[in-house]
Amino acid sequence: MRPLLIIGAGGLGRETLAAARATNEVTPTWDVVGFLDDDPTVQGTSIDGAPVVGPTSHVSRLPDTAAVVTIGNPGDFTSRRRIVAALGLQPDRWATVVHPAAIVARGTRIGGGTIVLAGAVTTSPIHIGAHVVVMPTVVLTHDDTVADYVTLASGARLAGGVSVGEGAYVGAGALIRERRSIGAWCLVGMGAVVTTDVPPGEVWAGVPARRLRRVDVLPVDLYPTAATSVRTSEHGR
Ligand SMILES: CC(C)(COP(=O)(O)OP(=O)(O)OC[C@H]1O[C@@H](n2cnc3c(N)ncnc32)[C@H](O)[C@@H]1OP(=O)(O)O)[C@@H](O)C(=O)NCCC(=O)NCCS
Repeated sequence: MRPLLIIGAGGLGRETLAAARATNEVTPTWDVVGFLDDDPTVQGTSIDGAPVVGPTSHVSRLPDTAAVVTIGNPGDFTSRRRIVAALGLQPDRWATVVHPAAIVARGTRIGGGTIVLAGAVTTSPIHIGAHVVVMPTVVLTHDDTVADYVTLASGARLAGGVSVGEGAYVGAGALIRERRSIGAWCLVGMGAVVTTDVPPGEVWAGVPARRLRRVDVLPVDLYPTAATSVRTSEHGR
């Protein structure tokens, strides 16, 4: 069994812990060391029976462990990339945690640091990048591609041939029409019905989905177009 550190003791961290334990019931795989979290109020506590053993920087003190970053919400969906970059681990240290109740088509390639939760489905072999989060009951179909750092929230469903660009966040229950592209670092709202391509760095929502605004805050190096500002206050369609 491989020692596992879960970086981030929030909701997704707890879900990842549950997925690792469920995996162990089928095939002993993960020896969960505990959580790492920079919030001093949780350090030294136990969450769902696993200890919070220290801040994220402790990952370098435990070189024989695998790790997975479980941080990222729609309000700050670039944070996972930032933390992965800051930790600077060798690629082989990133754990890929797949809940045994996910149905992953044989031949699907899944990158390091990626989490696939219960009920997610890939209907044919596809490529899912590194540090991706696939939440429960997400459906990915033939010829979809999912780039690094993407988050697919619960129940999102992608028709065939959809590409999701780096770091994009697809909200809960969103539906994406076949062969559409979801641009890098964009945010698709919950329940959106996406019928056209979504450009990078924008927030889209609704049925059919329309542009709401630009993503508020992206690190300069992630801005797809004008890399001159870290913040835009532009709102509206
Ligand atoms: C789309 C989203 C990012 C917008 O958030 P926001 O920028 O804070 O926007 P606001 O809540 O201020 O709403 C702005 C407008 O968009 C509308 N709106 C917000 N979310 C919407 C959605 N998902 N679908 C349709 N309209 C939406 C609001 O009603 C509001 O309309 P108005 O200006 O006519 O009053 C957010 O609502 C959302 O859907 N996030 C994803 C949540 C999610 O999937 N979580 C999963 C966790 S597992």
